[in-house]
Amino acid sequence: MISMNRTIVVVSLALIALSCSPSTRQAVVPRDPHSFARPEEVVVTHLHLDLTVSFERRQLSGTATLTIDNKTGAPQLLLDTRDMTIEAVTLLPEDKAATWSLGETVPLLGQRLAVDIAPTTKQVAIRYATSPNAAALQWLEPAQTSGKKHPFLFTQSQAILARTWVPCQDGPGVRMTYSARIQVPPDLLALMSASNPTVRSRTGLYEFRMDQPIPSYLLALAVGDIAFKPVGARSGVYAEPSVIEKASWELADTEKMIEAAEKLYGPYRWERYDIIVLPPSFPFGGMENPRLTFATPTILAGDRSLVSLVAHELAHSWSGNLVTNATWNDFWLNEGFTTYFENRIMEATEGRPYSEMLAQLSLQDLRATVAELGDTSAMTKLKLDLEGRDPDEGVSDIAYNKGALFLRHLEEKVGREVWDIFLRNWFDEHAFRSSTTEEFVTYLQKKLIKGNQKFEKELDIHAWIYESGLPTTLPVITSEEFKRVDGEVDQWKSGAPPKQLSVTGWTTHHWLHFLKALPDQLTIQQMVALDAAFGFTRSGNSEILALWLQKAVASDYRKADGALESFLTGQGRRKFLRPLYAELAKTPDGMARAKAIYAKARPSYHSVSANTIDGILGESK
Ligand code: BES
Ligand code: ZN
Repeated sequence: MISMNRTIVVVSLALIALSCSPSTRQAVVPRDPHSFARPEEVVVTHLHLDLTVSFERRQLSGTATLTIDNKTGAPQLLLDTRDMTIEAVTLLPEDKAATWSLGETVPLLGQRLAVDIAPTTKQVAIRYATSPNAAALQWLEPAQTSGKKHPFLFTQSQAILARTWVPCQDGPGVRMTYSARIQVPPDLLALMSASNPTVRSRTGLYEFRMDQPIPSYLLALAVGDIAFKPVGARSGVYAEPSVIEKASWELADTEKMIEAAEKLYGPYRWERYDIIVLPPSFPFGGMENPRLTFATPTILAGDRSLVSLVAHELAHSWSGNLVTNATWNDFWLNEGFTTYFENRIMEATEGRPYSEMLAQLSLQDLRATVAELGDTSAMTKLKLDLEGRDPDEGVSDIAYNKGALFLRHLEEKVGREVWDIFLRNWFDEHAFRSSTTEEFVTYLQKKLIKGNQKFEKELDIHAWIYESGLPTTLPVITSEEFKRVDGEVDQWKSGAPPKQLSVTGWTTHHWLHFLKALPDQLTIQQMVALDAAFGFTRSGNSEILALWLQKAVASDYRKADGALESFLTGQGRRKFLRPLYAELAKTPDGMARAKAIYAKARPSYHSVSANTIDGILGESK
């Protein structure tokens, strides 16, 4: 307790000192509980990577040269590392070997790297090599790719995994520009979250630049047999050659989305916007790596019905990449804003009835998550306290959908016209900076509330951000499209056979709503009839299949066993894996089947997904 108080005093003094300093326009950045770095003393402003990618050794090795700004004349640079071998550290321009040490290993956080620096030091060059099981890196055998001939490598740095492949100040409150020279086998292409090539180099050497300052969680690299196809003047798609046609067809509306986004909240500031469709083990739907969104191939439904994921990752070019959550406790500032913005892009490109279906589905997910966590759980608050926990625990429908609904609520209270100007200014005025929840509240007060107490009460800000559960001021969402679906569900419930339901013109989202509106558990006869009428087990749409398979497990509909196993082994998207394994784990027989499938599938999952499933099945690594 005593040391805790002292920390608070020290931190507050530091904050007061910072906020009083006239030379800095930088906002007050709180201490990041997930980083060993002390950027308020010495901050990394530029990173240069010179790395060789070895598929044989499953290793990146070379040098990271960090340009620093020693604001306080501190004697040490503190960095985050995890599972890596540090070989040598040199100070520049002194060109002198540095004294350095690695701290004890802390679970999740890794090891602190402390480098003694001189007052004259401008750069610190670290020679290092990654570990074969570096959590950010997934090394794929040729068999795990679509072409089957070449290996593949991709990174996933968010939230705190960048430190497993680059020694850095691994917190979202620090921004740096970067450049890189990456040597890969000559028959492969390398891409980063930076300026990118579109064709292979003869030597396998690639150079990259990212001139806009970004936080470390947006560092990204992908290496493989990758083709490129433009889909717009400043956008294109990368994928394995056998996937490129399908992928570029599916994502053809990207330019339209960029234009819609710019019209809403200002110019796209990252020059190009490309998307790489990765092999199926990619653990997320998408990852907003700047200039190059990483995406799962499970969005390739063949009818462009799952492209709101692109709207989401694109929206992060404003909410997240331009204005970044200061720490992972403010994660909703990234994901809630982005989910709101995603919906606005979809409204602009597909119309309100479409975006209201998306909003309704999100609200249903949110209600289910609040019910699951319990409406008094601290994890249902927008502002989180993840100290001592994995920031991954904050990744839930709360940050995404409660966050988005909060902004929708504000929009409805102030009116769209005023709201859109407000939000655009928020992005402009905080561009290339990190922000806290509290800064956002202050900004709301200054720009919208302006001392009007009655209005402040209506906005209900405290309840939305700092209280658990769902506030009483939750917006009402009505989807006329879904009312049609509900009508058919009622028919079915009163005994109409599935074949007699009127489903003409239903799209992916109607079907998703239909499946969610059915009871969790059905009788075998009901499952058989639904499957015979609508062919769910054979669905090529990953979202529909995922919901159907969950019902199949809950209902013990064993005819879907084959499809279930192929789905669990054929892709590694955590959002799909988690509920299916969790459903299986509910019965002893299901648990045994889950373990048998997992034994085969685990080696092909990314560590992000494997860690989650380990937890569900009680496996120790
Ligand atoms: N930035 C997230 C993915 C992420 C969050 C990775 C936290 C690691 C830690 C990305 O923008 C995202 O939200 N992806 C979603 C897709 C989306 C349409 C909701 C996903 O992967 O499901
Ligand atoms: Zn996101």
